[in-house]
Amino acid sequence: MKLSATDFVQMKGSRPITMLTAYTCPVARELEAAGIPIILVGDTVGMVEMGFDSTREVTVEHMIYHIGAVRRGAPNTHIIGDLPFESDKTPELALANAKRLLAAGADSIKLEGPKTDIISYLVEEGIAVVGHTGLLPQTANSFAKVGRNAEEALRIQKEAAAIQQAGAFMLVVEHIPHDLANSITQTLTIPTIGIGAGPDCDGQVLVINDALGLGNYWPPFSKQYAHVGREIQKVAQQFSREVESREFPNNIIQFAGSMK
Ligand code: KIV
Ligand code: NA
Repeated sequence: MKLSATDFVQMKGSRPITMLTAYTCPVARELEAAGIPIILVGDTVGMVEMGFDSTREVTVEHMIYHIGAVRRGAPNTHIIGDLPFESDKTPELALANAKRLLAAGADSIKLEGPKTDIISYLVEEGIAVVGHTGLLPQTANSFAKVGRNAEEALRIQKEAAAIQQAGAFMLVVEHIPHDLANSITQTLTIPTIGIGAGPDCDGQVLVINDALGLGNYWPPFSKQYAHVGREIQKVAQQFSREVESREFPNNIIQFAGSMK
């Protein structure tokens, strides 16, 4: 059963929320089968799937393509779609683009930073919005932790409160000190979802490629639950050996059902 924004708010304080990103249909299918309640089609797609150095290359059209694929794989899971860089420059532009992501299959949208006028405009139009504070990859010059001095921590704390006030139903907190994430989580009534923000958030999100071990770089705060990259290499090498030795396809037993 697909969970709503209200369901996630009600989970705060009772059950940790598990979120993973997905960008493709087959991965989304497996996440839904595993019972993951909320999938983020993040603009990280630009880095982990498209090979760009930042998320700034990602367009609304890219997001529509990936959201559609994820929706077809996970028809009964809540999907958040990221509004990519500069697609939310004005309230009107943000609304038009948010509607396109929803039409592609998203249930809610996420945007980076304390753009409270835009968040409240979207919420007034009936769109479920997820906020994002701390490290903001669309505009950051580095991927270093933010909020490490008292002044910056206070700014992020205030931004988190303002994002909730504007009507967001959930807040992603990225790469901030654990005590700051704890304090934000204690203060807000909406759930916080942490990435590189310590154990005290209401939920956790990982980029699926990081969790799978598929890529050439993983942030230190991520965890590799598998090494899919190595598996792909092994498959390619074994296939190559068998083609060269003419072992493949000689000994394949065909399924009768596929012979029609
Ligand atoms: O784009 C993304 O995957 C994200 C997560 C890192 C939170 O915004
Ligand atoms: Na993102």
